[in-house]
Amino acid sequence: MTSRRPLVLGNWKLNCDHVQAVHLVTELALRLRGADVGGVDVGVAPPFTDLRSVSSVLEAEQVDVALVAQHASEHDEGAFTGEVAVSMLHRLGVTYVLAGHSERRRYFHMDDETVARTAAAVRRGGCVPVVCVGETADEREEGRTEEVLERQLRAALGGLDDVDAERLVVAYEPVWAIGTGQSATPEDAEAAASFLRGVAKGPLGDGADRLRVLYGGSVDGDNAGDLVAPDDVDGLLVGGASLSAQAFTAVVTGVADCYRSRARSPRR
Ligand code: PGA
Repeated sequence: MTSRRPLVLGNWKLNCDHVQAVHLVTELALRLRGADVGGVDVGVAPPFTDLRSVSSVLEAEQVDVALVAQHASEHDEGAFTGEVAVSMLHRLGVTYVLAGHSERRRYFHMDDETVARTAAAVRRGGCVPVVCVGETADEREEGRTEEVLERQLRAALGGLDDVDAERLVVAYEPVWAIGTGQSATPEDAEAAASFLRGVAKGPLGDGADRLRVLYGGSVDGDNAGDLVAPDDVDGLLVGGASLSAQAFTAVVTGVADCYRSRARSPRR
């Protein structure tokens, strides 16, 4: 049976000012408390300006939801106007930082090397990088999915000096599935996750078995359980559905239910 705890992260992207964020996370805390979601690690990634308010609510509500940042600077400090350093996020209680989300790669020209330097900065600053990888529709059509995933993951891992699987998360997010309503099938998600774990075996060795690999792209309460049913998919990175406390709780519940039935299954 797998010892990897499932992880579900909600990426709010460029949505919710800090007042709206307080409402959303207060409702989320209430709903998660009333749901049977033990055993699932949960986190939310609001915009930077909301982090402090969201963290206060989580503390007051005493609900176990990790604080996640959507991005961070590759630099630790200095003359980099507009940037936010990982140490600043860590001080606010941030646990995970996304590195190389496809929207950062696409709209803000983040290349593999920048993603690698960012992931390294996240580790240096005391947080856990969630390295996002995924192919575009064209790359998929051209049969280049594995080539792209391997290149992206190898680059990111190459930037880390000590590769400790417990201080790293990988998210497989096919670009064609993000925000399109067309999620990958559980079979495709499993094929990619197991391929990525194989790539991670290079630097991580047996540690790759402890690495959590998430799937992201058009996840909702209806498909969450099916998407984490395969062996190598250890959780979900959720965009749109994380903007509703009800929908996000349904995703977390779907994952919790699936893991409960996995635990009962003689197969695992
Ligand atoms: P989506 O976004 O769930 O809205 O498709 C996923 C993501 O970008 O992380």
